[in-house]
Amino acid sequence: MGLFEVLEECAAAVRARAPEVKPRAGVILGSGLGAFADTFERKVVIPYSELPHFPCSSVPGHAGRLVLGDCGGEPVVAMQGRVHFYEGYPPWQVALPARVLCRLGIRSLVVTNAAGAISPNLAPGDLMAITDHVNLAGWNPLAGPNDERLGPRFPDMSKAYHPGLTETLAEAAGGLGIELKRGVYAILSGPSYETPAEIRALRVLGADAIGMSTVPEVIAAAHMGVKVAGISCITNLAAGIGDKPLTHEEVAETANRMRDVFCRLLGSFLPAAARA
Ligand code: HPA
Repeated sequence: MGLFEVLEECAAAVRARAPEVKPRAGVILGSGLGAFADTFERKVVIPYSELPHFPCSSVPGHAGRLVLGDCGGEPVVAMQGRVHFYEGYPPWQVALPARVLCRLGIRSLVVTNAAGAISPNLAPGDLMAITDHVNLAGWNPLAGPNDERLGPRFPDMSKAYHPGLTETLAEAAGGLGIELKRGVYAILSGPSYETPAEIRALRVLGADAIGMSTVPEVIAAAHMGVKVAGISCITNLAAGIGDKPLTHEEVAETANRMRDVFCRLLGSFLPAAARA
């Protein structure tokens, strides 16, 4: 079975469970940020384990559920939790859930994550609109045969983070009085956190924030011609910038502290993204 057929089977399984919801926007909720989807109306919740081919997350803070419903009166779909390369999944499968959202017919995909601050302009508790990324994962989810029905062999990435949609995000933040920083997100494959020397190198390379996710999903969505906006929740200072050792507990704790502001921002932005 090829990727196209896998996607069709997966999307059909979702449609069978939620025939009433035809989502126009999707959101991938990163570490500790899943609670946002609990606020949807007309909610249909599908554990990833009940979907064919869907990879299941093993990371604490990633629930592993697809949630369809209405947000601000617009039909949307959310992923509560994602999988990562470091869990042992091959690159194409890391991007599969994002592709399924795209096959469900969304026009806009909002990707979110927890990230470490490299730029001195960022601090834990900040929200950052991702304006671009640096893929230092060492792999690409499009490696392997290309199916032209999904997208081109060599997709353009020069506006992967859609400027118009990112402006809509900035307007949503402005309307709520929420400060929104902007910056470039870099991915390393993890799961070890970076060394201070790696963070110094990343700063020279133009990265403002660092994480272990998001980029594969953005590449897949760009491949499929879906507009993307990205939000990083800055949960910690990157290695060597602060003096504390990095822990997943600190990341989860800060993400948890940011839950209210993050949910308010998405509650305004996601319906706008569905209309965009
Ligand atoms: N590095 C990598 N991934 C992360 C970080 C970090 O500092 N914070 C949250 N995810």
